Amino acid sequence: MELKIAVLPGDGIGPEISKAGVKVMQATCDRFGHKVSFQYALVGAAAIDATGNPFPDGTYEICKDADAVLFSAVGDLRFDNNPEAKVRPEQGLLAMRKKLGLFANIRPVETFDCLIHKSPLRRELVEGADFVCIRELTGGMYFGEKFEGDDRAYDTCIYTRTEIERILKVAYAYAQRRRKHLTLVDKANVLASSRLWRKIAQEMAPQYPDVTTDYMYVDNAAMRMIQEPRFFDVMVTENTFGDILTDEGSVITGSMGLLPSASTGESTPVFEPIHGSWPQAAGKDIANPLAQILSVAMLFDYFDLKDEAAAVRAAVNASLDGFVRTPDIQVEGKEAFGTQAVGDWIAEYVANH
Ligand code: IPM
Ligand code: MG
Repeated sequence: MELKIAVLPGDGIGPEISKAGVKVMQATCDRFGHKVSFQYALVGAAAIDATGNPFPDGTYEICKDADAVLFSAVGDLRFDNNPEAKVRPEQGLLAMRKKLGLFANIRPVETFDCLIHKSPLRRELVEGADFVCIRELTGGMYFGEKFEGDDRAYDTCIYTRTEIERILKVAYAYAQRRRKHLTLVDKANVLASSRLWRKIAQEMAPQYPDVTTDYMYVDNAAMRMIQEPRFFDVMVTENTFGDILTDEGSVITGSMGLLPSASTGESTPVFEPIHGSWPQAAGKDIANPLAQILSVAMLFDYFDLKDEAAAVRAAVNASLDGFVRTPDIQVEGKEAFGTQAVGDWIAEYVANH
C-alpha cells in the first residue's frame, strides 16, 4: 500500500513526540513493504508565528490531499493567560476539525496492567476497564453562535438531527464490534439539545437489537466512571461532555501520556494523542511518546492494516515490559529514557520482530 501522511507537529512537546511517531510509522511501513511519504505542515502557535493563522490554507491543502493526518499537539503559554488574544493556537485544531468534517472522535480508554499502580483508583476498580468514548466533534457549544461582551457572554449548544444520527451510527457500529453495550451520555433532564439526542437514540435503538442501549446523565456518568469503569463498553456523547469525560477517562487508566485518538468524518482522518502540548516540557526530551505512537496503530487500523497495528502495539508493550520508559511512567530504581530513545527503541523493535 502507498500512504501519504500529513504530519502536523504543532507546539510544545508536539515536535518531539511527532518525530518518534514518524520514526515508528516509517519502520512499520518498511517492515511490511508499504511506501509512505510525509508532508509536514504548520498548525497552532507555530503557524500563528509564521503566518498569523493557526490553521493556514497551505496546511489545509496538505491535509486534504493526504490519506491521513498525524497530529501532535497545539497550545502555548503565551496565549493561555491572555483572554484578550484574538487568535489562539487551539483555533487551529478546531478549524482543522471543522474543515475536514471530523465529526467522530474515537477515544479508547484502556488500562495497561503494568501502569495500574499509577491510577488514582484502587487496582480492583480499574483492572480490566476497557471502553471507547465516541465524542461528537464538530457541533455543540464549541461551534454554536457565540457572543463575547464585557458584561455578558454566551455560547450556544446546537445540534441537528443529521449531526446526531451520523454520530450515533458510528457509535452503534463500534458497539456491534465490541461488547454490544452502548451508553448515551447526556443531560436530558435539563438541556433541550440533550433531549433531542435521547429521542433520536430511542428511535434508532430498535434497529440494533443486538446492542443494549442505555441512557445516563453526564453528572452520573462522571461518577460512574470512577466507581465502576468496567460498566462501560461504548459511550457516545456531545462535544463538551466528551472533552471533559475523556480527560477523566485518561487519568483513571494511569497515564494520560498513553491514550491515542482517531477523528474521522467526511474527509482525511486525523490521528492524535489526547494529551496537550505540555509547553513546560518542550525541548527537554522527557515527554512520553506512547500516545502518539499508539495513534499510529489506530491509523493502521483505519486502513485495515491489522498486522501493522498489532506490530506497533506489541512493540509498545515490549518497551513497557522492558522498562524502556519515559520519567512519567518509569518505576523507582530504574533510569528513565528520553522521548527519542523510547521512539528509537520501539521503531527498532518493530523492524526486528
Ligand atoms: C481535546 C482538547 C481540545 C478540545 C482543545 C485543545 C481545544 O482539549 O482535544 O480534548 O477542547 O477539544
Ligand atoms: Mg480535551
